[in-house]
Amino acid sequence: MQVPQNNPLLQTPTRSLPRHVAVIGAGSIGPDIGYYLKSTLPDLKLTLIDISQAAIDGALGRFAEYANKALAKGKMNAQQAAAVQQNVHGSTDYDAIKGCDWVIEAATENIDLKRRIFAAIEARVASDAVITSNTSSLPAERIFSDLQHKERATVTHFFAPAWRNPAVEVIDWPEAAPALVAWLRWVFCSTGKLPLVTSDAPCFMLDRIFDNWCNEAALLLGQATASEVDTVATEFVHAGPFFVLNLAHGNPIITETNTLQADEEGEHYRPAPIFKSVQKWLTVAPGKRVEVPAATAQAIRDRLLGILWSQSVDILDRAIGTPADLDLGCCTALGFKSGPLALLRQTPLAEAQRILDRLAQERAGMPMPRKPLADYLRFERHVLVDDLDGVKVITLRRPEALNALHDEMTDEILAVIRRFENDPGVAGFVITGYGNKAFCAGADIGRFPSMLGDKAAAAQYSRDCSRLLVHLDSMQKPVVAALNGMALGGGFELAMRCHALVAIENSWMQLPEVSLGILPGIGAMVVPYRRWPQAAGTFHAMLRRCEKLKAKQALALGVVDALAKDSSELIALAVARVQALAQGHSRIADAPVAVPAFEPMDGKAASGMILSPTTLALLERAVQQAAEAPTLAAALEIGYLAFGDSACTAAAREGIAAFGERRAPDFARVG
Ligand code: COA
Repeated sequence: MQVPQNNPLLQTPTRSLPRHVAVIGAGSIGPDIGYYLKSTLPDLKLTLIDISQAAIDGALGRFAEYANKALAKGKMNAQQAAAVQQNVHGSTDYDAIKGCDWVIEAATENIDLKRRIFAAIEARVASDAVITSNTSSLPAERIFSDLQHKERATVTHFFAPAWRNPAVEVIDWPEAAPALVAWLRWVFCSTGKLPLVTSDAPCFMLDRIFDNWCNEAALLLGQATASEVDTVATEFVHAGPFFVLNLAHGNPIITETNTLQADEEGEHYRPAPIFKSVQKWLTVAPGKRVEVPAATAQAIRDRLLGILWSQSVDILDRAIGTPADLDLGCCTALGFKSGPLALLRQTPLAEAQRILDRLAQERAGMPMPRKPLADYLRFERHVLVDDLDGVKVITLRRPEALNALHDEMTDEILAVIRRFENDPGVAGFVITGYGNKAFCAGADIGRFPSMLGDKAAAAQYSRDCSRLLVHLDSMQKPVVAALNGMALGGGFELAMRCHALVAIENSWMQLPEVSLGILPGIGAMVVPYRRWPQAAGTFHAMLRRCEKLKAKQALALGVVDALAKDSSELIALAVARVQALAQGHSRIADAPVAVPAFEPMDGKAASGMILSPTTLALLERAVQQAAEAPTLAAALEIGYLAFGDSACTAAAREGIAAFGERRAPDFARVG
């Protein structure tokens, strides 16, 4: 597999974003792919082709329905909702695709039909127009074998619902031009998707997991009911396999794809015969469960975990995909709560081996590990690392949470820095975020509820989260933050501890903590005043009123050193800053600083939200005390303790609960 850069946006694209895309097949997933493209590239011309006019009419109706829903939910404004439906054309005539720069085939999974479609496409588009197929299982090498220009063709496999599900598998097959794969990764990443590069194995990477997970569930039906299997499975997934099969009308698909795997790779993949005789499974919905006898539960759990790990090690041994993509793809595309390798990491290795031994006994032929299990676990899950001219670029990649920081990610960043900081061949580091929306949306709010009400635990959590930041303070080699999008809360706190900041023009920073009823405990009440005293008034407003700091204002204030128009310019600027700082960088003031007094305020955030007076009082006290603290370390400690205090307030309970429930907090009620 050729993957030049791990972060797709580090490459300079060889061609521009598409201007005219055609999607062949308007019945099922095709319109959803089209809707994703139009909602992210509103100026795009989109042509939907189908043999059925009714399917085209239905697809256009779906566009209107989605846009109206987005409008009602405030996810789009009226102009965006109109733009997504404009310049969308339906036709039963293939001639309508003439002039397209990208054609996406999303027709039925039938190899002969697909070949006929590709011949019809190739007869009408330019020899360099990109052609991709949304097949979930058929290898590129087979479906594109008759194409005259194979180098511009590959598989781009979307996941339902394709307008919202970020995952897309991009198949790197031998005939595909490296520039094609690079361009597709760049386009997807620039438009909010998560491209996962895989090799050209039947069913690629994620459907090997999904199909065999479902097949295993069906093979268990001799010893358990569908409801029992789904109940046990929800330890690992949000919805059990039978529930998902009902939803997706998936029985024929498993029969087809597992037959393909069985024909190619062995009888152990043969689909359970029951798929052919059942229309709908009798099962429980997510959130509901049935009682499962202990021995049955154990058998189901062992086999489901066994098949997950069997398929995972096979994918890695055959280099079908990378371990980080496998885990992330299982969570984003397939609804797993943890990736299979994360599950393996949490399981004592002897227990994992017992489960695999049981699978080997009960399901002879299924792939087994070819090396010690621990060897499969040596990878970074939440960061990508690239090298540009001797500068290590660390990309935070948690697209499911806008790159929010949690312990594992913090540890991975620190581990990468420690691995290279004494390497004379490494000039320094850049930290950036994956995609073009967020640098980092802050500390992971999902981790907060467990520490509410426990001052010592909350303060310790802050101290623990700071281990990376304190390390940055002491480093000799420069670290530059490249803000590719919003930097919120802990994300901004990370950026402000880097030795320089560069930002994309439309990025912004915010400290929204008081709107959650808590305080920014890992430096934001301390560092800005010691580093950019000229901007103290701005930081007061950011801390007390959650005011946004736009990149352009940040440049004017000297918080950010330079602005970039796009992501490749951003990284080039960041790398240049690292090189410029090679001789040394300034340190955060280690002595007391003066901060302006807090003016009286109306107790409201910039958004108009009524804030908690208790939280605001804790904030103001901490900022003042930290400014007077004799050393940076003492000031930071004041911040950790103040976070601990805030975690014990009724406002924190209300703010964190409201975020989880997706509602506005009622601080007026709790005080
Ligand atoms: N921690 C954990 N998850 C986070 C997160 C954070 N700091 N910020 C965003 N996410 C998650 C969301 O919960 C959502 O997950 P879901 O799809 O499973 O529901 C996902 O990231 C996408 O965010 P969403 O809110 O749907 O995107 P949006 O574009 O509508 O809003 C924000 C973006 C940043 C305004 C909003 O996510 C937000 O307010 N986040 C919290 C920011 C914050 O307060 N940070 C400081 C924390 S101390």
